[in-house]
Amino acid sequence: MSNLEIYKKTLQILKKHNQEQILSFWDELNSDQKDRLIGQIELLDFSKIKEWIENFVRNTPSALINTDFEPVSYYKSEPENSGLQGKYVNALELGKKLISQGKVAAFVVAGGQGTRLGFDGPKGNFPISPIRKKTLFQIFAENISATSSKYKTTCPWYIMTSPLNHEQTVEIFQSNNYYGLEKDNIFIFQQGTLPNFSTEGKILLAEKGEIACSPDGHGGCIEALYKSGAIEDMKNRGIEYISYWQVDNPLINIFDPLFIGLHALDEAEMSSKALIKTGPKEKLGNFCLVDGKVNIIEYSDLPDELAIKRNSDNALVFELGSIAIHIINRNFLEKFASKSVSLPLHRAVKNITHIDQNGHKTESQGIKLESFIFDAVPLASNSIVLETIRSEEFAPVKNATGVDSAKSAHQMMIDRAAKWLEYSGIEVPRKTDGSVDCTIEIAPSFALEKDDLKEKLPQIPPIKLKGTIYLE
Ligand code: UD1
Repeated sequence: MSNLEIYKKTLQILKKHNQEQILSFWDELNSDQKDRLIGQIELLDFSKIKEWIENFVRNTPSALINTDFEPVSYYKSEPENSGLQGKYVNALELGKKLISQGKVAAFVVAGGQGTRLGFDGPKGNFPISPIRKKTLFQIFAENISATSSKYKTTCPWYIMTSPLNHEQTVEIFQSNNYYGLEKDNIFIFQQGTLPNFSTEGKILLAEKGEIACSPDGHGGCIEALYKSGAIEDMKNRGIEYISYWQVDNPLINIFDPLFIGLHALDEAEMSSKALIKTGPKEKLGNFCLVDGKVNIIEYSDLPDELAIKRNSDNALVFELGSIAIHIINRNFLEKFASKSVSLPLHRAVKNITHIDQNGHKTESQGIKLESFIFDAVPLASNSIVLETIRSEEFAPVKNATGVDSAKSAHQMMIDRAAKWLEYSGIEVPRKTDGSVDCTIEIAPSFALEKDDLKEKLPQIPPIKLKGTIYLE
């Protein structure tokens, strides 16, 4: 077909969907640019786009006001009575067995743009450890390596990137020789993208020959796990459980046998870790029971009157915050994807750089759409929630300064190491205000959990903590 025929045919399709502006600069494009733009247009699913424009772009989905939310029941970090004591012991044993049998995979979502951090490059490459300045990727890799040794098994690691950082991420792993892990056990794949829209519902152009797109949200991981062959790879390896976390959390306990064991004992399909929020508006997803199903409602979507609601003991009714740590059954994703059930989309009003109708690059408010993996939780036949302790497992690196910053994460890594040493009977120097008066870093190869440290310490000479202490 000639270029003119391609143009006419494509323009006819676009006109039918009121998106002919995509071809406004056709005559200015060279043949490669024309091919690339046609390739992007062919990937657009206009049946879905019509629905998105109606439901998310031109209108704001109705706020969750009439929904009747109930608090979620959950497993506390320690068994709250002797009856549960036995269950926790069984769960711990089962979790250790499943990890040893190679049934658990690690899966980190790392496709985000990390704009708030102001760090140029994939967030996983951000140096965060207190003494050795290890990057987030390196910390995770050492955690996975130490787990493989501890349980004498192979723990495959799946890493989701986006078109914004895929090449860079692959290059980082190659140049770091996969942080000592077997290359064949690391699976780096890209998530999909969704077009950006004007507030009137017009698909925007990033360049005269390029549709403006953004990563489709971490909910896009379900389709990407499929399309990349990652699910098939898991199946071939006998993986049953996926340990899911976000790249921004250096304290993650990736293979937590108690969490995996409780999830498996209760025959759950997708489970979550939770912590007690610092206050009603902490920027975390909120666990709520809706029609008997566990849901996670983003802080920005939870009506204020529910966020501030308190019990008679003054605790928040919705006290549980999601820290984006999940166990997901592989076959849940298979069932999920084969039913071709799609997650709901969420709209974000963002300043978007695009080409205006005069062909000039400009920035104005537009709409980005994305899906959230935690919207799959209510679709699970069963879902458990296990409380974790913030100082043990959640120190996200999201912002350049203040809350959830590199500085706060850095300090929380030192504080946890100090608590682990004190738990093992080692005296840690502290200032009069109680803060730790030295810099400590414990390599995952030295201890993955505080009990590992307690078992190991008697075999090593007494440690006098002063200045900076690195344990490996
Ligand atoms: C997220 C959760 C929030 C949770 C908090 C815990 C959402 C919308 N909210 O907030 O409920 O309490 O973490 O820290 O997720 N990502 C991708 N691809 C994408 C988008 C994001 O891989 O297309 C990854 C990012 O790399 C990041 C993570 O998902 O690691 C979270 O992304 P972000 O959108 O920044 O959510 P938060 O505001 O951190």
